[in-house]
Amino acid sequence: MAQFSVSGSVGLITLQNAPVNALSAWVRQGIVDMMERALREPEVKSVVICGQKGTFCGGADIKEFGTNMTGPPLIPMIHAIEAAAKPVVAAIEGVALGGGLELALGCHYRIAHSKAKLGLPEVTLGLLPAAGGSQRLPRLIGVPAALDLITTGRHVTAAEALLLGIVDQVTDHNTVDAAVKFASSVAGQSLDARRISTFPCPRPADVDALLEGAMWKVRRIARGAIAPVACVQAVRAAATLPYAQGMEREKELMATLFTSGQARALQYCFFAQRAVGRWSMPSGDRWDTSEPRPVHKAAVIGLGTMGSGISVALVQAGLSVVAVETHEKQLMEAKQAITGMLERGAKRRGVKPAFDKIRYSHNIQPLADVDLVIEAVFEDMALKEKVFQQLSAVCKPGTYLCTNTSGLDIDHLAAQTRNPELVVGMHFFAPAHVMELLEVVYGPRSSPQAVATAMQLGKKMGKVSVAVGNCRGFVGNRMLKPYLEQASFLLEEGATPELVDGVLEEFGFAMGVFRMSDLSGLDVGWRVRQADGLVVPHATAGRQARVRRGCRYSPLGDLLCEQGRFGQKTGRGWYRYDKPGSHLAKPDPWLHSFLEEYRARHGLVVRRIDHQEVLERCLYALINEGFRILEDGIAAGPEDIDVIYVSGYSWPRHRGGPMFYASIVGLTKVLERLEHYHRAHPDVPNLQPCSLLRKLVASGSPPVNKWREVMKTLHSQL
Ligand code: COA
Ligand code: ADP
Repeated sequence: MAQFSVSGSVGLITLQNAPVNALSAWVRQGIVDMMERALREPEVKSVVICGQKGTFCGGADIKEFGTNMTGPPLIPMIHAIEAAAKPVVAAIEGVALGGGLELALGCHYRIAHSKAKLGLPEVTLGLLPAAGGSQRLPRLIGVPAALDLITTGRHVTAAEALLLGIVDQVTDHNTVDAAVKFASSVAGQSLDARRISTFPCPRPADVDALLEGAMWKVRRIARGAIAPVACVQAVRAAATLPYAQGMEREKELMATLFTSGQARALQYCFFAQRAVGRWSMPSGDRWDTSEPRPVHKAAVIGLGTMGSGISVALVQAGLSVVAVETHEKQLMEAKQAITGMLERGAKRRGVKPAFDKIRYSHNIQPLADVDLVIEAVFEDMALKEKVFQQLSAVCKPGTYLCTNTSGLDIDHLAAQTRNPELVVGMHFFAPAHVMELLEVVYGPRSSPQAVATAMQLGKKMGKVSVAVGNCRGFVGNRMLKPYLEQASFLLEEGATPELVDGVLEEFGFAMGVFRMSDLSGLDVGWRVRQADGLVVPHATAGRQARVRRGCRYSPLGDLLCEQGRFGQKTGRGWYRYDKPGSHLAKPDPWLHSFLEEYRARHGLVVRRIDHQEVLERCLYALINEGFRILEDGIAAGPEDIDVIYVSGYSWPRHRGGPMFYASIVGLTKVLERLEHYHRAHPDVPNLQPCSLLRKLVASGSPPVNKWREVMKTLHSQL
């Protein structure tokens, strides 16, 4: 709702809808009623609109989308504010986002607190600012700046908002007091020059080229998302049409977006990301009820790429860090790399680099007083065991011991320590100071408090943290394995890396599977398979070349590694590169003849493989593994898997994550197609539908938000 009070001659309307004062139906009704009252009461000469508890407004109520909306619509409400005969001032504290900023743009003046954030993030929810935002913002700040804000949805600081002309004043003091004072000073003044909808849109001479350039750019980076394109079209309308017609265009474009599957997927992602923070362990202990312990001082062991990135992320989160590296040369290189990353990060954020927060050491002796350690040495169990034994002896009682393994057994490491309940996995993604995903891995003995502490630390580091159970590859890499394998089988059957990658990139992945392998290095997986005893040198493999442990196995990646083709770093992999380290992947005739020879040697008949088969086999194998993960209780729900894939594996956000996608495609169809491919290729692993998928189909294919409930019921029936 909205509360009304009077201070001198100023009417104060306060939005009240915790936690972010979203513009729910009753809040809109409150604003309409209170505005009418403010305009009616003769002693009120001007009006201030503010939000309770230091937050102006987080925008439209996203929970209302897709429901039967009641209450007054936003557009006429904002028009009525703009048309008011008494000056209306927005007092912006906390955030003014989406509809919140559109409301402020309908006011005649805007005063912001210096710590406030403003923006039009609708595009990130598959929408555009359709309460006049796409028409008013370009009129206020010009086409280029409006395009930037509306197509990216980025939040700007109050200082930038002042520079751009979005706000009229910034204050370090009480914003509402400043707005009330300001409002009384402008009472009675003409408002003719303050109604943004009446402004002509500033049109640079090259406006057409500018808009075309913006369209080209969003299409290039949108990976099939339609909202950024509609945003450019809406700004074009602001730049080329009178306001009323522009509003019509805004409405049309919004209608298309609003009912699109993409908006649904993006809004699902918004809530899924928040839901994963309210994680519960299989025992039922909720992490948010088990208090995380504060971490002020942390240590990182091993300063390779991962350890260096983690150290930077910890320092940037305000922690004191002891960074340990045993090899002198590596320590020197890491120091240099970390210093550079801290410098660049500080420059971007407009602060001083916190060099004094990090201390380097050759050994773990200075770790006696740290609250938490993140181990990031080589991915070698014997070495990690030794490090954990040493840490357990050196660190003070209660220090959390975390490992940045990408797949090793957390429980086994916990067993090396005196207090296994203090051990959890923190699986970062490279580069660790940039990538937003963190898998927090709990073993059977990890305490809820240890998990809570790691989750809280992840949040402090700006990561999207997802708690997952302990199994080979955890969630993300475990699902990646069948996806990679299916792609390799497709090559055996007649596809090329270009075909497979093209299909996956058209679907929306930033990179297809083979370009991604070339980037991360084929040798990484090769070494893991070698350690598992899966790699058989081809010369000696004989009839066993394509079978391992009774299952079909595709050794193509191993064969490339045998030839020293590790991907970008060696200039050759699934593609060729002009020189080692170069990023531009080019089709490689060598690879094509290698595939032909391989197929001929093994008597494989080449088929024409179409786009549908590539997409379905790669994605459904990955999704099938997702169902197994749910069945095993490794992820708490489909949202956890989806957040992992969208945040860490470049799954296109506008498709909502693999499990959401499966529910949209239809579980029956996913099941049927898997059965079809399994029948066609009975010896190819991972195409046999898992039992949870069958059970969900038998339960009537419930929508994704009902799976947890259905799974509980299925579980209790066992
Ligand atoms: N509508 C409905 N609920 C909203 C909301 C909105 N516009 N914005 C936030 N919420 C809810 C969240 O779902 C969360 O609910 P939960 O506690 O039940 O999980 C709660 O408010 C707090 O949000 P959270 O994101 O966890 O808090 P934060 O302090 O980290 O961030 C914001 C606050 C406002 C920056 C962030 O919530 C946000 O970006 N909101 C969306 C803004 C937006 O896109 N508005 C345009 C809508 S078209
Ligand atoms: P990444 O995968 O992070 O690129 P590596 O696995 O190559 O990196 O790096 C691991 C780092 O850990 C190496 O720099 C290695 O010197 C270091 N290291 C190995 N053992 C120890 C140890 N016991 N203590 C500290 N550092 C170690």
